[in-house]
Amino acid sequence: MARSPSGESVVERVVRLLGAFERDVSALTVSDLARRADLPVATAHRLVGELVGAGLLERDADRRLRVGLRLWEIASHAPRTQGLREAALPFLENLQAATRQHTQLGVLDGTDVLFVERLSAPGSVVNLTRLGGRLPLHASSSGLVLLANAGSGLQERVLAEPLPRFTEHTPHEPERLRALLAGVRRDHHVVCRGYIHSDAMGIAVPVHAPAGEVVAALGVVVPHPSENPGQYVSGLWTAAHGITRALRGR
Ligand code: PHB
Repeated sequence: MARSPSGESVVERVVRLLGAFERDVSALTVSDLARRADLPVATAHRLVGELVGAGLLERDADRRLRVGLRLWEIASHAPRTQGLREAALPFLENLQAATRQHTQLGVLDGTDVLFVERLSAPGSVVNLTRLGGRLPLHASSSGLVLLANAGSGLQERVLAEPLPRFTEHTPHEPERLRALLAGVRRDHHVVCRGYIHSDAMGIAVPVHAPAGEVVAALGVVVPHPSENPGQYVSGLWTAAHGITRALRGR
């Protein structure tokens, strides 16, 4: 594979370029892109031209670059999310209609939860979750569900790293997290009061594949401290079981 003088492959540089786009950074000039991807402007220029030609990037009227539709089309075939989202969507819609609260589905990716679906109603409580966005495993309800059901290797790796705090309530002591993870495995749900934002509470449950392994976490984000978390748990379980049944039918 062609490599730059620094020994980096073209693919590595392209991945860095595409990775420069984030939720609130959806249109970038070539020089912005070069800076964010840490590439010489001439290299960024050349690669961007090829990516635009292939439809993976698009130019807007100001010649700024955006993620192209072709990239979305390819990504939407990702097997870890396509079947899961299709199976889950009707159950997320029912749960969201019944609760009128943020309802979301996340999968494990590295040491984060990656959100693959989110439904919300106008006027719902503040929610840091974004579609295609990430939260750390130790700080969010979906993340704790996924971490509790992951291998002990990942748990030890996460607990050995510094655990960033979002609020004064975010658990950051390894012993407290171990107790929380044991609680998730015992109770099959978790309640996170103010861990990500002091006005919000996350409640999440595991979603099992038909063969039994946990493939996702299903959660709601509701106002804190006014809501009673217990009232959401059985609805979450019902929806999660429905998703498992729908996955079996595929
Ligand atoms: C949670 O899952 O605990 C959670 C996620 C996003 C928020 C608040 C809570 O904004």
